[in-house]
Amino acid sequence: MTLLNVENLCIDIPGPRGTLHAVRGVSFHVDKGEILCIVGESGCGKSLTSHALLGLSPRVAQVEAAAFSFDGTDLRRLSERQWQGLRGQRLSMIFQDPMTSLNPSFTIGALLIEVYRRHHPGPRGKARARAIEILRKVGISNAEERLDQYPHQLSGGLRQRVMIAMGLICGPDLLIADEPTTALDVNIQLQILRLLQDLKRDMGLGMVFVTHDLGLVARFADRVAVMYAGRIVETAPVAELFARPCHPYTRALINCIPAPGKTRPGAALGAIPGVVPSLVGPQAGCAFRDRCAHATPLCQTRLERRHDGAGHAYECHYTPEETAA
Ligand SMILES: Nc1ncnc2c1ncn2[C@@H]1O[C@H](COP(=O)(O)OP(=O)(O)O)[C@@H](O)[C@H]1O
Ligand SMILES: [Mg+2]
Repeated sequence: MTLLNVENLCIDIPGPRGTLHAVRGVSFHVDKGEILCIVGESGCGKSLTSHALLGLSPRVAQVEAAAFSFDGTDLRRLSERQWQGLRGQRLSMIFQDPMTSLNPSFTIGALLIEVYRRHHPGPRGKARARAIEILRKVGISNAEERLDQYPHQLSGGLRQRVMIAMGLICGPDLLIADEPTTALDVNIQLQILRLLQDLKRDMGLGMVFVTHDLGLVARFADRVAVMYAGRIVETAPVAELFARPCHPYTRALINCIPAPGKTRPGAALGAIPGVVPSLVGPQAGCAFRDRCAHATPLCQTRLERRHDGAGHAYECHYTPEETAA
């Protein structure tokens, strides 16, 4: 069952030097119990896209879409009040940095209870019981004691678990996570990912998981959307993407994943030469062309989208055989 459907989402931000076309016609969907990873370098529009899914676009942004729906509700028509009813309740978000997103002057209990009661007015005792239940669910064992602690009394990994608990306390159908593990060390990162996978399985949660780390995508995603300069340049089920990456940008990203034993000592870690082009003003052709070894004059003027009819699509004039190194 499709939970979220987005077609041709465009986000423009007017500026002094012209309009920034930050998100340029992206389409994707998320099914119940499915993890869609959106991956790409910094500045390619991942955060703007994921925040738009919660009606949290910057005030100056102009957001348009041909379709934008969640479980049958057209999100384009929601008032701010209706957004507030949905957000935190059926659609929720976990952010990158729990230290700035958890209000330091409230206890964990007060924070969790307040989120719950915003959507479920009723006795405080019931909200407290739910807070304990959800803390246990995210793997915090001495949940009752934790309720009385303040965010600064917890380790980074525990704080991120509390963030996840806040996102889950109302039992959402869809969780949007924007680089939620970037600030954590690798072991804690893996623990959190395993936890999210368990929750997906146990609660049938759909997830949009944003990251710049393709290594993490390989372990975690069901489907992947590779974003570059405001467009999804390739999308496929995760195994298919790694088995047959078709867009030169996807292949460049995959080549940047450090492989244990394969990286020569002293060799520079892979980074794609060049920078993401400016998206201010009119745009034409493929935005990756200046960094692509296979670009031809055709790439300056036109885009071509190819798909195999089984969920693998990419935006390049050339097949992977034609662009193989
Ligand atoms: N509030 C804003 N005002 C102006 N420009 C913005 C704003 N938010 C994002 N941008 C610009 O939009 C582009 C995409 O940003 P973002 O979605 O944050 O990228 P990512 O999350 O992939 O790193 C960047 O060029 C960024 O500078
Ligand atoms: Mg971002």
